[in-house]
Order: sequence, then C-alpha cells, then structure tokens
Amino acid sequence: MKPIIAPSLLSADFGNLERDVKMLNESKADWMHLDIMDGVFVPNISYGMPVVKAIRKISEKPLDVHLMITQPERYIHEFKQCGADLLTVHWEACTHLHRTICQIKEEGMLAGVALNPHTPVAGLEDIINDVNLVLIMSVNPGFGGQKFIPRSLHKISELRDMIKRNKSEALIEVDGGVCRDNVADIVKAGADAVVAGSAVFKAADPAAEIITLKDCE
Ligand code: DX5
Ligand code: ZN
Repeated sequence: MKPIIAPSLLSADFGNLERDVKMLNESKADWMHLDIMDGVFVPNISYGMPVVKAIRKISEKPLDVHLMITQPERYIHEFKQCGADLLTVHWEACTHLHRTICQIKEEGMLAGVALNPHTPVAGLEDIINDVNLVLIMSVNPGFGGQKFIPRSLHKISELRDMIKRNKSEALIEVDGGVCRDNVADIVKAGADAVVAGSAVFKAADPAAEIITLKDCE
C-alpha cells in the first residue's frame, strides 16, 4: 500500500501561500497538514484560525490539523468552523483525552491523538478503539527541519501490533524528519500516512518529491 502523503505547510512560503496550496492541489498529496503552535505547549508560535480558514478556501484536499496547544478542548468547535477535517490533539496536553476525542467526533471531524517522542505507545491501549488516527511524533514538536529520531520505528511497530490486537481501525501517521531516505522504513514499520515539511518544500521540484515519497516501496 502506498502511504498517504500529508505535506506540512509549516515549510511553505507564507508570502506565496496561495501558490503553494495550489501546487499541492495539483500534486499527488493526499492531505494538507497544518501545524498549530501556541508558544506554550511547544517553544514556537506558528499560525492560527484565520490562516486555516484561508487555506480551506483554496485547498481541494482534506485538512489534517495538528494542534500543538495546551487544553485543545477549548478550540474544537472553532477549528471545525475553520474547515478542519481531521483534528489531532496531543496526549500530553489533554487531561480528559477520551472526552476531547468524543467532542471532536461529535463535531463531525475525524479525531487523532499525537504522542511526543518520550510518551510510550502503551498509554493508548484504553483509547485505541476510539480514535481515528494516532500521530507518532518522530521529532520533538515545535519546528520543521529536525532529524528523525530512530526509536520512532520501534514505536510504530508497537502501535501496529496494538491496533491489530484490539481490532482498531486507527490509522498511523508519522510526523517529523520524514524524507526519501527513511520513508520506506517508516512504511515498513506500519505507518499509513507520513507528514513531510522540509522534504517537500525544500526540494527543487516539490510535486516530484511527493511522488518519490509515495512510491517509496
Ligand atoms: C513539527 C511539526 C511538523 C513539521 C514537520 O512540530 O509537527 O509537522 O512541520 O516538518 P519536517 O518534515 O521538516 O520535519
Ligand atoms: Zn505536525
């Protein structure tokens, strides 16, 4: 199976955002990955709702919104209004994760949960049948262009086993440091979807790079 490719707009040219979103529309990208950072949960601030709304107007692909913010339950309805199709919250940022996941689904979005590199996969056992997606962070969240943490491959396989064991339908997405040199191993370990920011936008031909990532096997 070819992986779902979700280019991260964090590495796009914000002065030419419309051009970059249209390039993704024309490409083999499956989703658009939007990184929301609040400067508290992660040491960086990215962009917020007006930008998501603007991208929604141009995008012909589903919006995969990754919230790197504290207490994300405060903004679930707003992100639905902005056009998110899939909303992912961090395991570490949610005191009542089950309730938050239910709220996301009640709003009519797919619900994802993201794990930081230090967070064990085992902590998902009691929620794996409730989520639509698990996002394995393969770098510490906050910045594009970081190096893939090799241990993530082990976490992906462990999660794949948990999903099988529980007959869950959750997809596995991997985010951080994904590039043409490691994407085959990531997919082999069990990933369904990969996020790629700098690998796509720093490439001489981003649309061709998306094809290279997709044809990794
Ligand atoms: C990092 C973000 C990623 C980031 C990936 O905190 O969650 O989505 O944009 O960028 P690359 O692919 O450059 O590591
Ligand atoms: Zn992300």
